Amino acid sequence: MAKLTVIGAGNVGATVADCVARKDIVNEVVLIDIIEGLPQGKALDMQESAPVHGFDTLITGTNAYEDTAGSDICVITAGRPRTADMSRDDLLELNASIVRSVTEQFVAGSPDAIIVVVSNPLDAMTSVVHTASGLPAKRVMGMAGMLDTARYRTFIALELGVSMRDVEALLLGGHGDSMVPLPSCTTVGGIPLPELLSAEKIHAIVERTKGGGGEISKLMVASAWYAPGASAAAMVESVMKNLSRVMPCAVQPSGQYGLTDLFIGLPARLGRNGVEEILEVGLSDEEQALLDASAEHVRRNLETLRQKEFV
Ligand code: NAI
Ligand code: 2OP
Repeated sequence: MAKLTVIGAGNVGATVADCVARKDIVNEVVLIDIIEGLPQGKALDMQESAPVHGFDTLITGTNAYEDTAGSDICVITAGRPRTADMSRDDLLELNASIVRSVTEQFVAGSPDAIIVVVSNPLDAMTSVVHTASGLPAKRVMGMAGMLDTARYRTFIALELGVSMRDVEALLLGGHGDSMVPLPSCTTVGGIPLPELLSAEKIHAIVERTKGGGGEISKLMVASAWYAPGASAAAMVESVMKNLSRVMPCAVQPSGQYGLTDLFIGLPARLGRNGVEEILEVGLSDEEQALLDASAEHVRRNLETLRQKEFV
């Protein structure tokens, strides 16, 4: 019996649960939140969609961690989302407290689980979960690269009028304005992107991707959830089905790209043991400098958290 716990039954958490349930990836999904009735209501509503969608996943909602015990995998979405006037970093200390607390309560009953972190600021929260859980780094990963890459691929497909399925891309670095899309690793049906779009157009798409979260927050005065939820669900699927998909996600490098001692977005192979491998791609000097700057940004958040003993 494979079991997923989703912590935080808000917009992203509910979407993760819905996406995973529809694909019959695990036998059981448990939604947990501090708000009484919210996870129970959303779980029941989702469960009642099962005959329509045609899935057998059991979905339950709870406010008690004993119901999450024995989970194989967990997605943490608990915490405050950004509002239009906030950066992800504004959430740092508030969400660190929430994320540490939920992690400690979860691992007490599921000491061998794999954890996918979604709460923002993403890279720093992944480090908080790693510290609070005591789990090996390969069992902790953050979801951001999948979302940022999905946005980037969407904008390219729309610009070129091609199928979304045919745009493959890679994006490195932290989840924020310092993320590093790599046009040199972007292909459309196998054709390198620079052969299909001018440098100016690619630059405009890269800039739109960097501001992708803010673009949505400004439009609907709330943080995005459909693409984030689908992205986290895809990571859960690769782990639980041992698919070995290569996905950009926040992982802890041990010297790859010249980086150590932080979680940051890099391409990783995800399988039943979590992060099975971090893949290295040769970067130009300019790309490496951008990645280093992004790592510096993540480290500044970690320094603040270190002073408060969150990491
Ligand atoms: P939301 O406000 O809809 O849901 C958050 C839920 O967490 C709420 O239901 C709240 O009651 C719950 N919560 C708060 N404290 C809790 C605790 N101690 N235990 C259990 N549940 C608790 O927010 P939304 O839109 O779902 O976003 C969740 C987080 O994900 C935010 O931090 C947001 O910034 C982040 N996010 C990250 C993305 C990424 O790419 N990494 C993309 C989108 C959102
Ligand atoms: C996003 O990128 C705010 O991190 C959230 O949509």
